[in-house]
Amino acid sequence: MAFSDIQEQLRAIREEAEAQLQKVGDKPALDALKLKLLGKKGDLTALLRSMGQLLPEERPQAGQMINAVREELTGKLEEFDAKLRKLEQERKLEREAIDVTETRKRTPMGCIHPISLVQEELMRVFTSMGFDVVEGPEVELDLYNFELLNVPKNHPARDAQDTFYIEDSILLRSQTSPVQARTMLTKKPPIRIICPGRVYRADEVDATHSPVFHQMEGLVIDEDVTMADLKGTLDAFAKALYGEDVTTRFRPSFFPFTEPSAEVDLTCVNCHGKGCRVCKGTGWIEVLGAGMVNPKVLEMCGIDSKRYRGFAFGLGMERIAMLRYGITDMRLLYENDVRFLSQFRDD
Ligand code: DAH
Repeated sequence: MAFSDIQEQLRAIREEAEAQLQKVGDKPALDALKLKLLGKKGDLTALLRSMGQLLPEERPQAGQMINAVREELTGKLEEFDAKLRKLEQERKLEREAIDVTETRKRTPMGCIHPISLVQEELMRVFTSMGFDVVEGPEVELDLYNFELLNVPKNHPARDAQDTFYIEDSILLRSQTSPVQARTMLTKKPPIRIICPGRVYRADEVDATHSPVFHQMEGLVIDEDVTMADLKGTLDAFAKALYGEDVTTRFRPSFFPFTEPSAEVDLTCVNCHGKGCRVCKGTGWIEVLGAGMVNPKVLEMCGIDSKRYRGFAFGLGMERIAMLRYGITDMRLLYENDVRFLSQFRDD
């Protein structure tokens, strides 16, 4: 090996390096080239090792030349590395770019069922008046659904034609009123509750009937509760749901669990009292039953009727929803027709 050979090989290595670098397209290729040129087993190291064959006086210059090429190549590779990184960064930014002006099809979203909307609103109105929300079972004992509510054994409501019986003493609750009895038996007055829920009756399906529907019960028990409190509470509910000009009217009625009992009408929400088709010209629509809790019921449920009095009410949520949204056929509420339901989207 002569000095000129070293010069020749260095030239070849540089040329080869230039040529290879042109072909490098990514980091692994660059690393491989780096290893080939500058690594422990690379071309330049091999050349350094072969310096032993030179004359001693030639070695320092040869060493300097090899090192100069090493530095030059190291610099070039680093430069290229920086270029690659920049390129990669630009590609990444391009890949991740988001066009904020692009329009997209809306993802179809569900919406809340009108019965749920009404239930949520009723709960909001009554909880803001200090009522608690409680629930009871849909498969209920005759004891709670009838017995403790003073519905006598021969009462027509107990007829299997009206009530779904599972066994003699077990039924699908025909009203939310059994939750009243359950609450009185387990809580001490003062009691202020509402209980929304599903109820069942053996009714044929038509525009105003369904064998499964929803009610909401209300019950207040305290020492000096009067019918005026009942009227005030229901007035507040009517105004909250249907507007300030809506008021209530009580008509005498009968329920075994209340004494006295009343049917409660609201100012017609359609004509605001003038008289229309919805209210059959009367200006009023019947929406709920109510009354002062029968002292017999209080006693049966373990509450001292000398000390405590209470009022109760029960309403059908379908009716409230139908009046609220102008729905004329109850079946629409159960058919799950998206064209109907999507009208209740609130966005
Ligand atoms: N439970 C009755 C029904 O289903 C409605 C009702 C009327 C509930 C008067 C009450 C009430 O709490 O006091 O027809």
